[in-house]
Amino acid sequence: MENLAISTDKQSLNNVKIGKEVKIYDFVNAYNCTIDDGSKIGTFVEIQKGASIGKNCKISSHTFICEGVHIEDNVFVGHNVSFINDMLPRATNSDGTQKTDDDWTLTETYVRKGASIGTSATILGGVTIGKNSLIGAGSVVTKDVPENAVVAGNPAKVIRFISPES
Ligand SMILES: CC(C)(COP(=O)(O)OP(=O)(O)OC[C@H]1O[C@@H](n2cnc3c(N)ncnc32)[C@H](O)[C@@H]1OP(=O)(O)O)[C@@H](O)C(=O)NCCC(=O)NCCS
Repeated sequence: MENLAISTDKQSLNNVKIGKEVKIYDFVNAYNCTIDDGSKIGTFVEIQKGASIGKNCKISSHTFICEGVHIEDNVFVGHNVSFINDMLPRATNSDGTQKTDDDWTLTETYVRKGASIGTSATILGGVTIGKNSLIGAGSVVTKDVPENAVVAGNPAKVIRFISPES
């Protein structure tokens, strides 16, 4: 992935490494991240530094992919999905000074190959979403999701398993 994406007047793409045949819709804000071959990024998505998106992923509109999120190939991410990377967020330090990029702990998240995340799900930091799993719409994922599991609710619980081919 040697190519850098080029911003237009309707996108802000700063140091985004992209593969072949990547489609980035208008009003995407992405910086210092990678998007691999064939992936599609919907309108109003934000992708932060250090995040990675594998091949042939579909990232739907209004989704937030923060620093520390690693998405493997063939992953579907629905609309308005939020990832989290700071488990104890504060605006200021104990001395009242505003926190900087050096004043917090990054918590990383992994989404394994072929997983799907339903609309408006929230994915807490530090979890691994297993291969081919399916996350229900509106779920709050607080723990690792096993391979081929269907999970839903807040907190998300396994409701069934699917075959690896489905
Ligand atoms: C999670 C999901 C895959 C489950 O589908 P399913 O296996 O067919 O499950 P069912 O519809 O038979 O529901 C099983 C149970 O889970 C509950 N449930 C289903 N989806 C749920 C959700 N998103 N959140 C909370 N509970 C859910 C149902 O109410 C039902 O509960 P009950 O047994 O007490 O009656 C599906 O409901 C879903 O949310 N898909 C995501 C769709 C989406 O976001 N698409 C994005 C692009 S449009």
